[in-house]
Order: sequence, then C-alpha cells, then structure tokens
Amino acid sequence: MLRDRNLIPLSRQHQHALALCVRIDRASPIGDADLPAWQAEMAQHFENEIRIHFAAEEHVLFPAARKFPELGPLVDELLLDHFMLRERFAEAEARKMIAADLSEFAQRMSAHIRKEERLLFERVQELMSQDELSLLGQSLEDALKDAGQACALPADATRPPVK
Ligand SMILES: [Fe+2]
Ligand SMILES: [Fe+2]
Repeated sequence: MLRDRNLIPLSRQHQHALALCVRIDRASPIGDADLPAWQAEMAQHFENEIRIHFAAEEHVLFPAARKFPELGPLVDELLLDHFMLRERFAEAEARKMIAADLSEFAQRMSAHIRKEERLLFERVQELMSQDELSLLGQSLEDALKDAGQACALPADATRPPVK
C-alpha cells in the first residue's frame, strides 16, 4: 500500500536509518581501525534523528495504534526493540562496540524498521479514518519538529566557511 502522507516523515527517517544499516553491512567485517568512526556516526545519527524518532513513535504513534487491540502485541514488540536498540546506541556513544556488534545492530535496526513499515504502518493506514490519520500526522509533525533543527547543526558545522 502507498504510504499515507501523514506517516511519510517517519518513513523518510526510516530510509536514512536503513541507508546507515546498508553501509555497515557493506563495510562488514569492519576492521578495528574503523570501529571508532562507525560508532561516532551511529551516535551522531541517534542524536540527530533517532532519539526524536523513537520518542515520536513512543509518545504519539504507538499509543494511537494501541487503540486497536489487534496491534497491542506488535506495539509491545516494537517497544522492546527500541529498548534494545537504545542500548546499542549507548554502547556506540561509549565506543564499546566490536565489529560483530555493529553487524548485529544493522540487522536488528533494519528488521525493526521492516516490522514498522510492513506491519504497523500498513495496518494503521487501513484501520484509521482519514480524519484520524490527519490528526496523527499533526501530532507527529509537532513531535518531530526538533529533529530537523538538530540535523541542520552538524551539516553547518562541517560545511566549509563561506568566503
Ligand atoms: Fe521504531
Ligand atoms: Fe521507526
């Protein structure tokens, strides 16, 4: 099913996270010398986007999905995924990961995103009325507002100075 426009901001962030997973996958097995750079990138990606993405899902999307009893068990599973993924991001922040952890992270993260896209988003779109979806979209927009700003900072910081 075509993604409803109210869920597109989350789907776009999923694409960004999947791109990181694919790059980790392609670079694997990652050598010891490259481990710090990959962990730094993971930590930055978390700060720029994932932290707010997870919060928006947990505070807005998941509670809205839970109103449909059939989605309860799926939401529980997704929350558990968030808990485990946050731990991986914290390990990256602390530079405690080994190469195998990075591969495992990439697999867990992409599996989580697939579950959200193929199971949760699809079903939410089918179950909710257009009005409910619009309200959800507005709440998500509010919850995600800070993500765009956070993203702009590192981009500016790494841009060469204008002469
Ligand atoms: Fe999620
Ligand atoms: Fe997500």
